[in-house]
Amino acid sequence: MTGSERKIIAVADAAVLAKVAAERVLARIAANGGRIAIALSGGSSPKALYELLATEPYRGQIPWDRINWFIGDERFVPANDNRSNMATARGIFLDRFAPPSNIHPIPTNAASPDEAAALYEQELMSFYGARQLDPARPLFDLVLMGVGPDGHTASLFPGFPALDETTRWVVGVPEANVEPFVPRVSLTLPALASCREMLFEAAGAPKRAILTRVLSGENLPAARAQSNGETVWLVDRAALPEDFRGA
Ligand code: 6PG
Repeated sequence: MTGSERKIIAVADAAVLAKVAAERVLARIAANGGRIAIALSGGSSPKALYELLATEPYRGQIPWDRINWFIGDERFVPANDNRSNMATARGIFLDRFAPPSNIHPIPTNAASPDEAAALYEQELMSFYGARQLDPARPLFDLVLMGVGPDGHTASLFPGFPALDETTRWVVGVPEANVEPFVPRVSLTLPALASCREMLFEAAGAPKRAILTRVLSGENLPAARAQSNGETVWLVDRAALPEDFRGA
């Protein structure tokens, strides 16, 4: 697969955005009749999507037994902490519908973020069946992403060494640039890129300033994060920069 230009899809508001995201999740699932891997994202942006996936007509169209749910980054907090990204996804939909063995949290009970990263990398490699990513065989069907006010995505913060990782799939991030100020564990750009589709969600006026910078090509983590397949930005009207209003 070769990477493509990013595609921007502008929608009216956050509610429509969640519906369009849910349709894209279903489309990615429908495109693969075998084992499916989806990397979820953290923060508040995906919550409305998660709620839709737990609701008809979406819930009944999801072949829960065939989908493996991973997470693109995690806060280094206990699994049941309300700051945990996977705990949020579990609470909203996964624990009700996904078989427990299909849920793949980052093991934050490890001794350190680095150790958790090494364990999760091992889990991903064993799931993938190889220690090297093959561009012709993506790790994930879909990777969900968000963007923070400083332009970070996953837990890849501007100027942090984790951003330049080229070989490891998962890294420990000793400190965060934004709240919550806890260490993180994050998939790296090459691991996140190994997907058929990378889908960013950004809604609300507070996102507009950083979207202006990211979409104009500034060298920020969220701009550098690109799928080897399709990269899609789902943006609502309030978040959409002036220059992209005709997009
Ligand atoms: C996290 C995230 C992070 C998030 C952005 C956007 O652990 O916080 O994975 O990358 O996606 O910060 O967060 P919001 O959706 O809350 O704006």
